[in-house]
Amino acid sequence: MKQSEFVDNLLGFIGSSPTAFHAAGNISDLLRARGFRELHYQQNWGPLSPGGYFVRSNDSSLIAFRLSGEGLNDTIVRMAGAHTDSPALKIKPSPVQVNSALLQLGVETYGGALLAPWFDRDLSMAGRLTWRAPDGLVRNTLIDFGRPVAVIPSLAIHLDKEANDRKPVNKQTDMMPILGPADGGAPPDWKGILAQQLTREHEGISEPEILAHELFLYDWQPPARLGLNNEFITGARLDNLLSCYTLIRGLIEAESDCNCLVVLNDHEEIGSLSSGGARGPFLRSILERLIPDHERRHRCVSRSLFISADNAHAVHPNFADRHDKGHLPAMNGGPVIKYSANHRYATTSRSASFFKILSGRAGVPVQEFVMRSDLAGGSTLGPVTAGEIGVQTVDVGIATLAMHSIRELAGRDDGWHLFQVMKTFFALETDDKIWQCLT
Ligand code: CO
Repeated sequence: MKQSEFVDNLLGFIGSSPTAFHAAGNISDLLRARGFRELHYQQNWGPLSPGGYFVRSNDSSLIAFRLSGEGLNDTIVRMAGAHTDSPALKIKPSPVQVNSALLQLGVETYGGALLAPWFDRDLSMAGRLTWRAPDGLVRNTLIDFGRPVAVIPSLAIHLDKEANDRKPVNKQTDMMPILGPADGGAPPDWKGILAQQLTREHEGISEPEILAHELFLYDWQPPARLGLNNEFITGARLDNLLSCYTLIRGLIEAESDCNCLVVLNDHEEIGSLSSGGARGPFLRSILERLIPDHERRHRCVSRSLFISADNAHAVHPNFADRHDKGHLPAMNGGPVIKYSANHRYATTSRSASFFKILSGRAGVPVQEFVMRSDLAGGSTLGPVTAGEIGVQTVDVGIATLAMHSIRELAGRDDGWHLFQVMKTFFALETDDKIWQCLT
């Protein structure tokens, strides 16, 4: 695969994955097309033969793994993880209101969204519906309006003279999008609107009764290349669909059949505590099913490495003083290893050294990041996963600007760089000297 093709596919994936549900669905399709078989939590898996498998949780988290002929006992699993969710506006259960003769939607802020960039964007809606057919059958189905249907207009500067000075945004009252005029004044049947969209998108569904929904607003503008010579990529949800795609692509394209695993967790942006989140039992339960013997499982996990991939803060030229002078990650400068004395990142000297050697072999430069000591910064699923299953972990990520904005910016080369590292990782021999970093 060429780099331009990788970037095309990456942008296509991000554009067609407006929610974590869609991301997990698209990844599933990608895995199925490459011979991975889906396993279901509720079923008895029996003894699994060598090959590729994946499991989903709540339609929005996913674990994909490859089992080698040597089995999982007394060996190593090359593990990596990223998150499928991104900050967004989530539509409330009964959202429709009529205000000033306009239809508006009540929304909650999901995660640490940068709110100002949500104003004056062409917004679409997507997510999951749980519905019942007239014969009593109940189903969960994804929908995506796929066109601009809502907007949150700014207040004109003439009515808000302080608009360009620091301005707070009220999440309850300022962020309500407009859906259209309120014909006749009465709010329309919201569930009827969703039922109509469901039947429009999916053939063979008639008279669905919408029981509940999980819908998000998203920026309709697709991701794109940007820069005088296309040196950057821009789009929504680069944090962290860029990593999700790159890890899965690395797993699929690795020229090896050794034991590998990629976990893509939902709910990282809201603290990871859910059935499919990194603080939940998802990964642990899969490892328990793959290696039921307690002692063998711990032996295996203690010899393994987990690469946690989540975007890193590139230096913003207008705000360069927000970074520590010795640690200035640049876009297109290669993956960034993230450190934190307080373990907000799980990197240790062992795991960092492992990643440096690995990147060297892949021919990829690496950068290092630590927060300014007087700023709090974020965290990621690395420390959570390390704490949950006891695996040695390195936190890495792609240098990004405008993180948690509705439109983020990253370097064109960095996904490709990380892809090279992941391919190398997923093909490491069990007796390779690099594993000595961990012992
Ligand atoms: Co992230």
